[in-house]
Amino acid sequence: MCGIVGAVAQRDVGEILLEGLKALEYRGYDSAGIAIIDPKNQLTCLRTQGKVQELVNLYKKSPVLGKTGIAHTRWATHGKPSECNAHPHLSGETIAVVHNGIIENYESLRKELVQAGYHFCSETDTETIAHLIHQEYTNTHDFLQSVKNVVKKLKGAYALAILNKAEPDHIIGVRFGSPLVVGLGIGENFIASDLAALLPVTQKGLILENGDIVDVHRDHVDIFDKTGKKTNRSIYESELTLDAVNRGQYQHFMLKEIFEQPKVLEATLQNSFSDHHVLIESFGHKARELFPKIKQIQIVACGTSYYAGMIARYWIEDIAQIPCQVEIASEIRYRRTIVAPNTLFVTISQSGETADTLEALRQAKDLGYMGSLTICNTPESSLVRESDLAFITRAGKEIGVASTKAFTTQLAALCCLTLAIAQHTTPAKNLKKLVEDLKHIPEIASKTLETTNRAIKDLSGYFADKKNALFLGRGIQYPIALEGALKLKEIAYVHAEGYPAGELKHGPLALVDKNMPVITVAPNDDLLEKLKSNLQEVRARGGQLIVFNDDQTGIKNQEGIMSIKMPKVNPILAPLIYVIPLQLLAYYVALIKGTDIDHPRNLAKSVTVE
Ligand code: M6R
Repeated sequence: MCGIVGAVAQRDVGEILLEGLKALEYRGYDSAGIAIIDPKNQLTCLRTQGKVQELVNLYKKSPVLGKTGIAHTRWATHGKPSECNAHPHLSGETIAVVHNGIIENYESLRKELVQAGYHFCSETDTETIAHLIHQEYTNTHDFLQSVKNVVKKLKGAYALAILNKAEPDHIIGVRFGSPLVVGLGIGENFIASDLAALLPVTQKGLILENGDIVDVHRDHVDIFDKTGKKTNRSIYESELTLDAVNRGQYQHFMLKEIFEQPKVLEATLQNSFSDHHVLIESFGHKARELFPKIKQIQIVACGTSYYAGMIARYWIEDIAQIPCQVEIASEIRYRRTIVAPNTLFVTISQSGETADTLEALRQAKDLGYMGSLTICNTPESSLVRESDLAFITRAGKEIGVASTKAFTTQLAALCCLTLAIAQHTTPAKNLKKLVEDLKHIPEIASKTLETTNRAIKDLSGYFADKKNALFLGRGIQYPIALEGALKLKEIAYVHAEGYPAGELKHGPLALVDKNMPVITVAPNDDLLEKLKSNLQEVRARGGQLIVFNDDQTGIKNQEGIMSIKMPKVNPILAPLIYVIPLQLLAYYVALIKGTDIDHPRNLAKSVTVE
């Protein structure tokens, strides 16, 4: 989604802002822009459709000097991607605004502004904000007060950065539902959607709360909370380094992140065990009080995180023997739900800012859940701050839009959650082996990468002319089939469907012919024999099978079956391992198809609008 950067410094800020936009490219966008107040006190604005590099090229041709500026990457919501819809939006050559989110009542506001004589140059909701602030400033001649007055008129979820040529020594930021942080420098201060955008200039930041308005000057920042009262927010040091946001030897962040999995799984599991049991404290200090009382679990998430939740349901019901439901956040928000006593509400998210998941959590607070837990990769995110309990996955910054290492670390965390709850429901001796097997997962992930990478790269050529694919799994591997299909869709733009293999003959079998690759995850588990029968159904219709399996399954390469061997793994933990070759497959097929792997079309890393 849109990315915001703003700076007030004693040096020229143009390059700092452009570097910031580059660091925010991972969020997904379709156009970019920058506005700077130059030394002659003119407001200069450059905007381009397409990549940030286009804006950089334009800037290089006509550099803009100036010590105060804002910049933006836009992910279109209102109005198509184009230069005139790109931000910043200006009013009266005085006010410039960049915006992330949606203003829901912009149509009525726009009508009033048109009646008041304002001319609109774009189709966006954002331009409304620029004109409203201009209108207020014409009356009050007080920039901060004008922003405060305008915020009262806006409905929706948004973050803003605003520049005023008449007051060139400060910028104003607003956080109202979409993320915004303040970066603290020496004699210079910044705002951004994510501190990663500011790493070349500072690692020190303040996290704004919902409803905060921040007035950023070179030597100080003033924060006002949603009631208008001046307030302080605590300073944090980002653990991120520039290394973490560089591709290193890899051609794409996605491949780098796939190969980081053994290391980040290790980091996620590292501090969670004492001997043979999971440390309940890894979920927060209230966990010891809440966990023994849990009678049911409701998991809520979106996309890949939702599939992690689907796998957790198998674990929680099988190992901890507690009922568990899983639902997509954008669905549960809009239906009446009945909450059974002592139900824990669990959200799963890489970013911790996904609008639907966050809103579902906010609603859950009034519905009688015993408490909330988030499994999240971003410690400073809204989900972590607004949940009673949190388990932080240690995937590190994930830049590629495709969730890879975030997913496997979520699974590791969910397995720890299952084991922690199971300590109260299941004899310890039943859990000991599983704990030991879980500790070996990073090592098995490493072996998987070693043994399958080459084979999958070679196999990817087979997909060069393929437009469709089916992914099959059974039981706990069914969500892995869904995840494999999602990866291929989002990165390689190949239409793919994930199915529980037993469902084939209830419909999708009609699609199977010699042009249909059928990718199957087939660990040596209790359902293997049933799965083999399903594979026969595919073979009988001429479908081309690609089967990921281990030596013990007896599945061999033969006409119509490509068998790719995987290391041995405890079947109940197999999702953590079997997803890896599917990530590689999507990556290498995308490479052949020539898609924009780290920034697939139409998608954003962090979906901060509904
Ligand atoms: O940040 P979150 O985990 O809440 O994001 C949820 C989904 O948007 C995300 O998993 C999405 O499906 C990924 N792009 C899939 O690779």
